[in-house]
Amino acid sequence: MNAIFTRHSVREFLPKAVERETIERILKAAFQAPSAHNRQPWEFLVVTGRADREAIAGMSPWAKLCSGAAAVIACCANLKRGDPRHENPAAQTTEEALWVQDLSAATENALLQITEEGLGGVWLGWYPEETRVEPFRKYFKLPDHIIPVSLIALGYPAKESHSKDRFDPARVHYESW
Ligand SMILES: Cc1cc2nc3c(=O)[nH]c(=O)nc-3n(C[C@H](O)[C@H](O)[C@H](O)COP(=O)(O)O)c2cc1C
Repeated sequence: MNAIFTRHSVREFLPKAVERETIERILKAAFQAPSAHNRQPWEFLVVTGRADREAIAGMSPWAKLCSGAAAVIACCANLKRGDPRHENPAAQTTEEALWVQDLSAATENALLQITEEGLGGVWLGWYPEETRVEPFRKYFKLPDHIIPVSLIALGYPAKESHSKDRFDPARVHYESW
């Protein structure tokens, strides 16, 4: 799959909107991600309005670029789907580690589709940094069981850029370490 090898982070965007159908194809790609027990514990909040993107930009020094993006997609975990502790806080489980992985797979799928569409995007780590999670949850009035795990800022790239080959055979171990 070529997008895997051409995907790279894009942080500067043209002032041009991304069509709704394109956003939907990106989200369809995210929904195709694998997930533990096939729980698909994801929900997505798509933010295009300037004031809302600027509010996100103010929530983290790493999110400033959101003000110039065409859209921000918040990839959120729905704990009702992804974490048995939501119903039973006493449950002994490591499910949190799994929904973080599930949302990460969905985030990467979305980034690959963004590449396929000729757009650019960047993954912004959000959870578990409370100074980002809490303002975001408050601003967008997210229900208690919805956790913003990662954000994707996307749009038409402002300049040409390319991925780099990072393969390092010295860090691959066959059969034994
Ligand atoms: C979990 C995670 C969190 C990230 N958070 C940020 C971020 O807050 N701001 C940012 O500009 N890039 C962020 N990135 C993008 C990385 O900086 C980028 O993927 C890395 O430098 C490799 O470059 P590439 O994406 O161009 O291959 C994040 C990536 C991941 C996987």
